Amino acid sequence: MTDEIKKIERAAKAEIPKAKTADELQALKIQYLGRERGALTLILRGLKQLPEKDRAGVGKEANRLRDFLESLFEKRGRELETQIIESTLKKERIDVTRPGVRQKRGHLHPHTIVLREIENIFGSMGFEVAEGPEVETEYYNFDALNIPAEHPARDMWDTFWLRSNQKEIRNQKSEIRNSKERLLLRTHTSPVQIRYMEKHNPPLRIIAPGRAYRYEATDASHEFQFYQVEGLMVDKNVSIANFKAVIEEFFSRLFGTRVKTRLRPSFFPFVEPGFEVDITCTSCTKLKIKNQKSKIRCGVCKGGGWLEIAGAGMIHPNVFKAAGYNPKHWQGFAFGMGLDRIVMMKYKIPDIRLFHSGDLRFLKQF
Ligand code: DAH
Repeated sequence: MTDEIKKIERAAKAEIPKAKTADELQALKIQYLGRERGALTLILRGLKQLPEKDRAGVGKEANRLRDFLESLFEKRGRELETQIIESTLKKERIDVTRPGVRQKRGHLHPHTIVLREIENIFGSMGFEVAEGPEVETEYYNFDALNIPAEHPARDMWDTFWLRSNQKEIRNQKSEIRNSKERLLLRTHTSPVQIRYMEKHNPPLRIIAPGRAYRYEATDASHEFQFYQVEGLMVDKNVSIANFKAVIEEFFSRLFGTRVKTRLRPSFFPFVEPGFEVDITCTSCTKLKIKNQKSKIRCGVCKGGGWLEIAGAGMIHPNVFKAAGYNPKHWQGFAFGMGLDRIVMMKYKIPDIRLFHSGDLRFLKQF
């Protein structure tokens, strides 16, 4: 029996400290101290069969071994626990000095980027930003701009007319002039000229950026919803020369290269005289193509060297009258340009429909 106890002790001393997991340790515990078949349990249970004289000695040994084994198990158990804690701590350690994961941020729409630039440039020349409603009345969109109801010039703007809520409009009657109550989606930003002049006295300089709508089919360069930037400068002595200076400075700064302008006579009912404004093609200058002579043809201006970019003119006396200004005392120029076209030129965007596509692959590039 004593030999048996010694054997158990030796084996346990070798095995218990080597247990690698709590499960392994538990299995050993059952092997040695298990209530049913534990090696030491069997010995303790066999004490009864021993002769009287040996019983006390062996019993003492066996109990000593049980205490010893229990202390071994406890020690190893504690060791394993610390190991687990240490390894988890190591695994889950947070290194606060490491750079964080950058949160994805949204992008500014290319319209917004360029519009801010435009506002900055005009702002530095003393122009303020004005706004007007996108749902406009027939009066502001047409009549006040010298485009009467039956005038063929109205055909220049294919209009989205709105089925209006007559009762609501009757309540706002005081705001709406000449009982021109029909509502529409503004076809251009020019009505902001009237709205601003009604509320402010000259001299003034404003730009009015915003959305406009036209009832027309879409293609790579036409959308029924687009952006315009309107401009207006009124003072005692404003001339076309002033307009040329302002607009050349503006485009040169926007495109980061010296831009020249060319005014071609044209008709817009709200100005007299009226022009189309062309600028020298910025792609050509960058490519250093001498347009007429070169064999390479610039894809942006198709080799002509000029790009049509805006409409403009000297404010028509009827427009001043509609806004309550005396046309004998005041002069001014106005212009309107398409923002989409400018953004497309600046970023070489081939299709206007991309702007409202909501396609992140497009938007993420800006
Ligand atoms: N409103 C015109 C359009 O959308 C553009 C325009 C032309 C605006 C001449 C002006 C201007 O202020 O003077 O076609």
